[in-house]
Amino acid sequence: MSFRATALVSAALVAVVAAGSAFAADPIETRKKTMKAIGGSFGGVLVKMVKGETPYDAAAAKAAAATLSQTAAGIDIATLFPAGSDKGGDTEALPKIWSDPAGFKAAMDALKAATAVQAGNTDQGLDKLKVAVAEIGKTCKGCHDNYRAQKP
Ligand code: HEC
Repeated sequence: MSFRATALVSAALVAVVAAGSAFAADPIETRKKTMKAIGGSFGGVLVKMVKGETPYDAAAAKAAAATLSQTAAGIDIATLFPAGSDKGGDTEALPKIWSDPAGFKAAMDALKAATAVQAGNTDQGLDKLKVAVAEIGKTCKGCHDNYRAQKP
């Protein structure tokens, strides 16, 4: 290989490495971490209280609901679901996220609204927590049914 060809190949490699580092915050891993955090507050705390697996604790419910609504509010679709990130990692995101961006945004907005509105219901007794969990849960299902592949 001539010196010129070698230099071109090295330049190409440098470009590839640089492009790689631009994705240091891998959107697939970041959104899965975000969803896991949401699952931790919702399934890990609030649903457990509703099911009676842990005793109802107004302060703990309120704290989990605050974390949940803040995490949901912080989701930026362009950052966590950039075009092309249906591939390139272990992901359950369905192509419909990108073919139906308005529907996906509406589903995400429903989560943000429900977690914000229902947060005030979580520390008002178990019956109100049940309502909050049902209302928030509808938005998880509403999105997962359409935009997330079922686990095998
Ligand atoms: C607007 C869409 C949307 C909403 C609303 C939503 N999710 Fe998700 N969720 C997704 C998508 C898409 C994935 C798959 C992400 C991937 O694999 O890249 C996912 C994945 C997950 C995962 C698996 C994360 C992992 O480790 O792979 C959990 C847990 C989860 N969601 C919990 C929830 C809960 C709980 C709610 C409601 C409180 C919720 N999600 C609301 C779109 C949504």
